[in-house]
Amino acid sequence: MAIKSTADKVATIQKGYTLEGPTIELGAAIIDGEVHKDAPVRLPLSMMNRHGLVAGATGTGKTVTLHMMAEQLSAAGVPVFLADIKGDLSGLATAATGSEKLMVRTAGIGQPWSGKTFPVEFLALGGDGNGIPVRATITSFGPILLSRIMELNDTQESSLQLVFHFADKNNLELIDLKDLRAVIQFLTSAEGKDELEQLGGLSKATAGVILRELITLEAQGMEKFFGEPEFDTAELMRTAPDGRGVITCLELPTLQTKPMLFSTFLMWLLADLFEDLPEAGDLDKPKLVFFLDEAHLLFNDASKAFLDAITTTVRLIRSKGVGIFFVTQTPKDVPAEVLGQLANRVQHALRAYTPEDAKALKATVSTFPMSDYDLEETLTSAGIGEAVITVMNEKGAPTPVALTRLRAPESVMGPSADALISSTVAGSALLPKYGAAVDNVSAYEKISGKAAADSGAAESPAQGTGTSSVDAEARRIEEDILGRPSSRPAPAPASQETRQEPQRQAPRQSQRQPADDGGTPGDLAGALGGALGGGLKSMARSLGTQLGRELLRGVFGTASKRRR
Ligand SMILES: Nc1ncnc2c1ncn2[C@@H]1O[C@H](COP(=O)(O)OP(=O)(O)OP(=O)(O)O)[C@@H](O)[C@H]1O
Ligand SMILES: [Mg+2]
Repeated sequence: MAIKSTADKVATIQKGYTLEGPTIELGAAIIDGEVHKDAPVRLPLSMMNRHGLVAGATGTGKTVTLHMMAEQLSAAGVPVFLADIKGDLSGLATAATGSEKLMVRTAGIGQPWSGKTFPVEFLALGGDGNGIPVRATITSFGPILLSRIMELNDTQESSLQLVFHFADKNNLELIDLKDLRAVIQFLTSAEGKDELEQLGGLSKATAGVILRELITLEAQGMEKFFGEPEFDTAELMRTAPDGRGVITCLELPTLQTKPMLFSTFLMWLLADLFEDLPEAGDLDKPKLVFFLDEAHLLFNDASKAFLDAITTTVRLIRSKGVGIFFVTQTPKDVPAEVLGQLANRVQHALRAYTPEDAKALKATVSTFPMSDYDLEETLTSAGIGEAVITVMNEKGAPTPVALTRLRAPESVMGPSADALISSTVAGSALLPKYGAAVDNVSAYEKISGKAAADSGAAESPAQGTGTSSVDAEARRIEEDILGRPSSRPAPAPASQETRQEPQRQAPRQSQRQPADDGGTPGDLAGALGGALGGGLKSMARSLGTQLGRELLRGVFGTASKRRR
């Protein structure tokens, strides 16, 4: 390679990052060891739906990078979603006070800096944390995502799809875990024998295994994540009255104990968004940018079906105006099919202590375009808050690789005060909507009501007294699995339940069409699956047609909609 002068290298960067439309200002290029504030490095807003990767060793500045990008997106009127894994992003709601050191840094890269607060909405999965509780219904979550949480194998996953089909066809609404449990309990009971046979492809033994898994989930306290009111993902797309994009910050304080649940929930949010949003074509700026910090959690132990679903969602959501940025330690954490779709790259420093590290470093370098940098050297020596960058320019071509000193956030790097988080949540418009869980009449009440009626008791389903036999059986299984007394509360007396049957029935009935009315993909999937003895996914894949896609989409999760 011919030796290029520093001036030529600066000129390459300047030219490569001269862009027409609005941009996110990432920082200033470092060339031959010097910061050049006249060589800004930026990312076109119009290309943020081409997705991105922020990678680097621990402590190199990944989370601060996404924080800084989120601020600028919000300022540009773009709503942002972020999964706040370590609780260090809530500072977005608090203006930073600039230290002298910070001022030197920002002046050095030509960043006009002033402390600012941003419009932040705090969410918490299942109310696990301080934020607005986020819940999903079992129906909407769907069998594939649920199988991942329950760690079911492929056969069990197909069987669970049949259970969903059965519930659908019989208007047994699957809202929470106990609804699904009641349906499976029914199918494995003496009364359900005929129905089980008719379903085909679902053995009593497999149903029994699924039932035990389900009861284990309940015993682990997972029931609070499922139910109503279900979170409407359209809430993620809001702007504040001043026009700035709302930054929705999902807290995950107990992530370490439930990594699978959380990563699967993030996928549900994406899948749900995907299904709701119309095609948008090329936009000047994205409708929403989704940052997934600690993204390796999403891919750990993922089944083929789950990986396919992620890959497809990432590929197709782009044309709906949503950008996804994965944030993780090494690009190796992201499967190749997904990595290949991440056009915008911010690579922080990598370590090369072990032979394994060295291999990862070489692999990372090979994914960058040719450049004036010795990338192996640059990537191992980059400082904190510096990164090697290449993004997609407005013409769809990669920009020149640039080692960049990144801009600093204008809000606090780290958590906001608890009092501020609490007052933000208390004042949120979402609180009255999602604050309290409601337990409407659904499969559990219908089945336990029926059980009571069958055994001669005179209660109506809504009174729910028959729940005692259904729950007693669940308690027995739980004690059997756990070998300790069940933590399951004894059934409450009949009068307590504040159920709202009348007004809830109508919307729910319009939610999914039964099979005999023309057949939705989900019904068809179930019917075919039943006829063929399961194996829906492979069938859907082998169809390879619109129908195949529809089948998969239906079973992936979010058949059709509740609300709006
Ligand atoms: N752009 C920046 N401007 C100023 N300071 C920064 C910048 N980036 C990182 N820092 C400093 O580096 C620290 C570590 O950054 P950060 O928490 O983002 O690392 P990380 O890569 O997310 O680490 P981990 O993998 O442990 O989550 C920050 O707390 C901050 O002090
Ligand atoms: Mg981090």
